[in-house]
Amino acid sequence: MLKKTVLAALNEQVNAELHSAYVYLGMSAWCEGKNLPGFAGWMRKQFEEEQAHALKIYDYVLDQGGEVVLKPIAGVPAAYKSLQDVWERTLKHERQVTALIHKLYALAQKEQDFATQALMQWYVTEQVEEEKNASDILQQVKMVGTNSSSIFFIDRHVGKSRE
Ligand code: FEO
Repeated sequence: MLKKTVLAALNEQVNAELHSAYVYLGMSAWCEGKNLPGFAGWMRKQFEEEQAHALKIYDYVLDQGGEVVLKPIAGVPAAYKSLQDVWERTLKHERQVTALIHKLYALAQKEQDFATQALMQWYVTEQVEEEKNASDILQQVKMVGTNSSSIFFIDRHVGKSRE
């Protein structure tokens, strides 16, 4: 059985992951509008992945006999200054998610909740990948700058990386 504090934090994390999904969907829409189908596709895939992250915790709460509480999901920006802005925000966002995961893991340790620690271990590892992906693509976007033929190329490359 989950302790109250852990249950509340898990429900918060479900909300945070759904918010992440929303963040990526908003970015995908912006990329579509800028004729960047590769980046839009990447973001849309990430939208699906974030929903899977949310559902993994959702299922765990139910398996543990806990109550799932779905709170409102915060809105996301409709516009960005540039492609670089999108990826800077992506990296910043993933770092914030990592901090939430670490906080939840630390709470599970404090409460001696071994099952939740085991679950959160998966997220700790996943966040290393999430930050690496965002950081790698941000570096590539910075490298090409505003050169449109390079942006065209990188858009195709990023899109293909998640087909
Ligand atoms: Fe679910 Fe991108 O972290």
